[in-house]
Amino acid sequence: MTRPRILLVDDEPNLRKVLGALLEQDGFEVHAEEAAEPALARVRASPSDTFDAVITDLRMPGMDGIALLRALLSYDPHLPVIVLTAHGTVDSAVEAVKLGAFDYLEKPFDRAHIRAVLERAVATRVRSGPSMGAPAAETDDPSVAVGMVGDSPAMQAVREVIRTAAKSPSTVLITGESGTGKELVARALHLGSDRADGPFIRLNCAAIPPGLVESELFGHEKGAFTGAVSSRPGRFELADGGTLFLDEISEIPLSIQVKLLRAIQESEFERVGGVKTIRADLRIIAATNRDLVEVIAEKRFREDLYYRLNVVPIRLPALRERIEDLPALLAHFVERCNARLGKRVRGFDDDALARLSAYPWPGNIRELENLVERMVLFASSDVILAAELPEAFQADPSRTAGAGPVSGAGHLPQVRVPLSSLGMDLKEAVRLGSRMVEEVLIREALQQTGGNVTRSARLLGISRRSLQSKMKELGLRDEPPRAD
Ligand SMILES: Nc1ncnc2c1ncn2[C@@H]1O[C@H](COP(=O)(O)OP(=O)(O)OP(=O)(O)O)[C@@H](O)[C@H]1O
Ligand SMILES: [Mg+2]
Repeated sequence: MTRPRILLVDDEPNLRKVLGALLEQDGFEVHAEEAAEPALARVRASPSDTFDAVITDLRMPGMDGIALLRALLSYDPHLPVIVLTAHGTVDSAVEAVKLGAFDYLEKPFDRAHIRAVLERAVATRVRSGPSMGAPAAETDDPSVAVGMVGDSPAMQAVREVIRTAAKSPSTVLITGESGTGKELVARALHLGSDRADGPFIRLNCAAIPPGLVESELFGHEKGAFTGAVSSRPGRFELADGGTLFLDEISEIPLSIQVKLLRAIQESEFERVGGVKTIRADLRIIAATNRDLVEVIAEKRFREDLYYRLNVVPIRLPALRERIEDLPALLAHFVERCNARLGKRVRGFDDDALARLSAYPWPGNIRELENLVERMVLFASSDVILAAELPEAFQADPSRTAGAGPVSGAGHLPQVRVPLSSLGMDLKEAVRLGSRMVEEVLIREALQQTGGNVTRSARLLGISRRSLQSKMKELGLRDEPPRAD
């Protein structure tokens, strides 16, 4: 399995050496730059998923860490950027998190903490293409501004709710299968609100060890627990004046749910180990791909919290329920990949389109996005033909595909690669190839275990968590954990 790739940016040679060595020992592949400008150039010149996270110092000659953070996030809003800070500059680190940094690390470093933060960053890394600069047209429609594509009746209804709900302070609960665009909707709601200039803070509740959820949400005071070497604000405080996006809310431990309910209802809370009551003015948006009513029935989610969150419900349709949006989505992703990969693909032929339309898309838009990226990369002519599609799409399109998410094992695209238009060097091609092999093996393991993630992870010799994050990248649905 490939090691996660980290880009480390610091002007201090010693720090690059020491931190770099630590990270290498912990299993990361480290690339270092001594200034922000070359780091930015490097990220822009690499394929979208080259780096799993960036660690950057704040104070550097030339472009500083904050400017680098802004530039990186406007290029790829999903890239986890972690800032380094010395004592005395914690305020600017907190500022950085409000601007969208994934987290910050304080010097002197605590190795276990660094590793935990990086693992979390890598696990939540969503592979998605960089945004192609500013949205095409000046618009005051927030769903357009975030690049949401699709005008099917179902999506028009969603856009309408976003327009209305964005302006209200009410809590929104976004539901929908994996990859349907829940995070995109959350960003649109923030952008369309009168808090658009405030921070948009995201917390993926599934990515945090249960014991740390409370301190992530509400912060902690120095010494509150082992490892709490200094006090830290939580996401509630950081979101003051803006929006707090609680992703995968079904995974919030039951023991924290009462505290969360109170914090939402009264806009006040205490840090872990703290006595002072803190007030924050924020708007909550929650998302889940689970049916919360079911989770309530399983006694893992409080009904009162559900009602408090579900003030404005937004349900995102699965791609197969609005398959009429497929042509527009394909055109959108093809154009984006062309720009990024320097290709000139015009699109898919009718036969290919028919096959794509008949596919059930368990991983929804994310799965579609990944497929388009691969197809454009390997396209041998300007039109992609049905025969070039992966095996999962080769079934008779008139038969409504019932292929479950894990049943398409063993499909590498059957394409002849025209070396003249490969558009990348050997190293990159090998990297892409190994990602494909990874996909085949993961699908195979899932098929052999009937979709059991725990057993598949064991078969593959990786942790359940990292299998889940890989499955997410590949647009494979994760079944709820089974007790085994
Ligand atoms: N309507 C759309 N138009 C264009 N791109 C979209 C649309 N919906 C989603 N996407 C893209 O698809 C990818 C997945 O979307 P997003 O991360 O918002 O999904 P999600 O519902 O949060 O998924 P998950 O449950 O897996 O976290 C992103 O790259 C997003 O930009
Ligand atoms: Mg999401």
